[in-house]
Amino acid sequence: MIIGVPREIKTDEQRVAVTPAGVEMLIRGGHVVLVQKLAGEGAGFTDEEYRTAGAVLVNDGQAVWHEAKLIAKVKEPLPAEYAFINDQHIIFTYLHLAAVPELANVLAEKKAVALAYETIQKRDGSLPLLEPMSEIAGRMAVQVGARLLEKTYGGRGVLIGGVPGVPPAEVVILGGGVVGTAAARVALGMGARVTVLDISAERLRALYDLFDGRLLTYISNTHTIQKAVQYADLLIGAVLIPGARAPRLVTEEMVRSMKPGTCIIDVSVDQGGSIETIDRITTHSMPTYDRHGVIHYAVANMPGAVPRTATFALTNVTLPYLLLLATKGYREAMLSDQCLAGGANLVSGHCTHVAVAEALGLNFVPLPEVLGS
Ligand SMILES: NC(=O)c1ccc[n+]([C@@H]2O[C@H](COP(=O)([O-])OP(=O)(O)OC[C@H]3O[C@@H](n4cnc5c(N)ncnc54)[C@H](O)[C@@H]3O)[C@@H](O)[C@H]2O)c1
Repeated sequence: MIIGVPREIKTDEQRVAVTPAGVEMLIRGGHVVLVQKLAGEGAGFTDEEYRTAGAVLVNDGQAVWHEAKLIAKVKEPLPAEYAFINDQHIIFTYLHLAAVPELANVLAEKKAVALAYETIQKRDGSLPLLEPMSEIAGRMAVQVGARLLEKTYGGRGVLIGGVPGVPPAEVVILGGGVVGTAAARVALGMGARVTVLDISAERLRALYDLFDGRLLTYISNTHTIQKAVQYADLLIGAVLIPGARAPRLVTEEMVRSMKPGTCIIDVSVDQGGSIETIDRITTHSMPTYDRHGVIHYAVANMPGAVPRTATFALTNVTLPYLLLLATKGYREAMLSDQCLAGGANLVSGHCTHVAVAEALGLNFVPLPEVLGS
């Protein structure tokens, strides 16, 4: 199969969908790989490395889309790329369609096969292609938050770990999944006091055990959220309902009740955000804005700031699926791998993911019906 790796065009996105080592494996599998020139630049991979790995270097993105059948990307196609999409394409990338309904319409109209990394799901409910990015974003949330709490960045001038005789910062994390766990790990490591809220008692028990009871845990509801938000120095939004828009858990009123100079990092902004005053997506170059004296950080592609780590982490988990899709074709690949089948969001004009369909108000058609199995 001809696999295309376009350069990412989203603002500040420096990751690339396939490393030179990945290209080599795809080529060994009998495939042709087209890589747009400079696609790996941001992650520190030169065109020469891709050429040596066996890729065909292509000048512009349009040509990659035009010649390749399987498009491997990092972020969702942007409006500038909509015209390149056709009914022969299998697009394998992060899509987060609940937050971009117009893209869902484009993919449906063009009858492309759109597989979202973030909805590929294992039997145990885990999301293996979201995990490495979530691990990075969770770690970064505390790293970035610690910096924003410094006075020079507009924060209240609190050192996250405190010092002997002065208490540390209070880090409150909404959602104790992969992002939440990674954030808790780093925050505890920096000496902060950590509170995690989740709707799952099982998750909270696992976290309590994992960190030997060194954090506070609450079942998440309006009452506990309201209480925790008030004492937070750093509030991290890390909730997820797979495929659906993030639930709005923190109201504007609650944000008003926060101390001046505190900071909100809403990692779940890529799914629409879990905080009422997070009403826009920010970028790495303009990452924050102020609302009610509270610093708001809403970067939807946080791992984009550490593109080299992120690219290796991402391709470690996407490559096996990419190989499967290229080798068997989308139909056989999805029929043979239930996990991969969960990634199907739109196939030949039909929405095949129940949560995505619900979030977008689209008609849900079960995948086997579309595949004709
Ligand atoms: N901004 C970025 O760059 C970036 C990067 C990676 C992941 N993310 C996003 O971060 C979010 C979290 O991802 P994850 O991998 O940790 O997901 P996850 O599924 O591992 O964890 C989500 C947790 O949220 C909990 N939850 C659901 N509803 C809740 C509620 N009402 N109150 C409290 N907890 C609730 C779930 O029980 C679960 O434990 C997702 O939206 C994901 O897309 C963003």
